Amino acid sequence: MTIPFEAGSDAHKSFFCRQFIDTHQVFDPANFAWPDLTDEELQRLRSVPFWQEVYHTERRAGAIVDAFTPYVQDPEVRAAVALQGVEETRHARLIKVMIERYGLDAQEQPIETFPADLEVAFIDFGFGECLDAFLGFGAFKNARQSQFLPESMFDIFDVLMFEETRHIVFFINYMAWRERQRGLGSLRRRAKSLRFYARAASRLLGMVRRGQDAGDGKDFAITQTNLFLDGFSFRGFVEDCYRENGRRMSTFDPDLMQPKLLPGLADLALRGIDLWEKGRRFTPRRT
Ligand SMILES: [Fe+2]
Ligand SMILES: [Fe+2]
Repeated sequence: MTIPFEAGSDAHKSFFCRQFIDTHQVFDPANFAWPDLTDEELQRLRSVPFWQEVYHTERRAGAIVDAFTPYVQDPEVRAAVALQGVEETRHARLIKVMIERYGLDAQEQPIETFPADLEVAFIDFGFGECLDAFLGFGAFKNARQSQFLPESMFDIFDVLMFEETRHIVFFINYMAWRERQRGLGSLRRRAKSLRFYARAASRLLGMVRRGQDAGDGKDFAITQTNLFLDGFSFRGFVEDCYRENGRRMSTFDPDLMQPKLLPGLADLALRGIDLWEKGRRFTPRRT
């Protein structure tokens, strides 16, 4: 494959913005084929403890991207970022349609004030999406395989997953272009990515802890948790994230840059686990 432009160049910028805008899909979540659920399925859906968090995250995403849009100097990038704002706002609407249709327990919460530097807020949000999406790929596959809900519900969630994948691909390309404009070398770019990923990971951990404190897991019946956790293995989860990332990324134009750091770390972790397990198998046990 010959890349027709240099990463971060003006030609690259025009390409990834045009690509993002041209592949935008027009739909209204209210018109989706939302299935009728059985009592048992409805109870399962209602027992998921994170709808409140998902709804808030999507509303917050739309608000951050919309707030940042007018500050983007470059008109091509601004048009693409504006479209991402439209998609994020539509995600919140999709979740709202689901909340109302199935009577889920989630309300609108006030959105916190953003930092004065909206670009930093956008970058923090972008790295957060990269981390959430990568972990979400594995979790989504697991939930789908366990048939926790009817396949038609997963088809609807898949629309959202696809758009989140669009966003992280756009974000990675945007960052490469942005950093090149600022003359940042690849070493400093990687160090910066690591720093932002660490911030995203600590926010995610904070969210998990808050969720545990608030719900104490009591709404999420043990039987349902087991649907996800039966036979759960750390290696299996990392492998699912890695494979699903590869599968989802393979549908994008190969000339677009793609997230590399998390799949790279996952690959390293998988090799490490395999080596460790191999070593254990061949180490004679002391009696
Ligand atoms: Fe979203
Ligand atoms: Fe997104």
